[in-house]
Amino acid sequence: RAKMSADSLAALVRTIPDFPKPGIQFRDITTLLADAAGLAELVERMAAAARPLDPAFIAGIEARGFILGAALAHALGVGFVPVRKKGKLPGKTVGIDYVLEYGTDRLELHEGQIPDGARVVLVDDLIATGGTALAAAQLIREQGATVLMALFAIDLPDLGGMAALEADGVASAAIIA
Ligand code: PRP
Ligand code: ADE
Repeated sequence: RAKMSADSLAALVRTIPDFPKPGIQFRDITTLLADAAGLAELVERMAAAARPLDPAFIAGIEARGFILGAALAHALGVGFVPVRKKGKLPGKTVGIDYVLEYGTDRLELHEGQIPDGARVVLVDDLIATGGTALAAAQLIREQGATVLMALFAIDLPDLGGMAALEADGVASAAIIA
């Protein structure tokens, strides 16, 4: 299979103006996911970034981080752990409250699913302000695990999320900037 260029990969992401509210340029990855070569290229690029770190788990953030995180975990031959919005996981959970633009939300993990000392790569489709990824990284660290890297398909650099992660000591990378 011919390798796809970074530009061709980026071109598969669709931008939808004013979703979910006026002024937001929504980066829609469903067009990339639906393209077989694009999906393979994205997952291979994420795997190339994560593999040298030798993670034991991929943790994916709800909802679009589940899609890419599970594909990446399979590509690397490691387990996948979901980081969910509050009230969705059926077992006993540990969680973290975090501040949104308006109000707060909560991310949860199944208790014990990320063991003390585990090497974890955190995955989401996109980083904007970094609030979600920072909270997820902190929750994983609270389990005694190491966040080797936070890995994203897309970075919106103007919003400073990757800089905020770096300031918190979390290395990060994005495939499409
Ligand atoms: C999006 C995206 C990230 C988060 C990034 O999720 O998938 O999880 O926002 O924003 P931040 O860097 O400013 O925190 P969304 O809130 O749309 O949730 P969903 O995936 O469940 O629809
Ligand atoms: N999450 C936060 N900002 C976003 C954007 N512009 N597109 C898609 N998901 C987002």
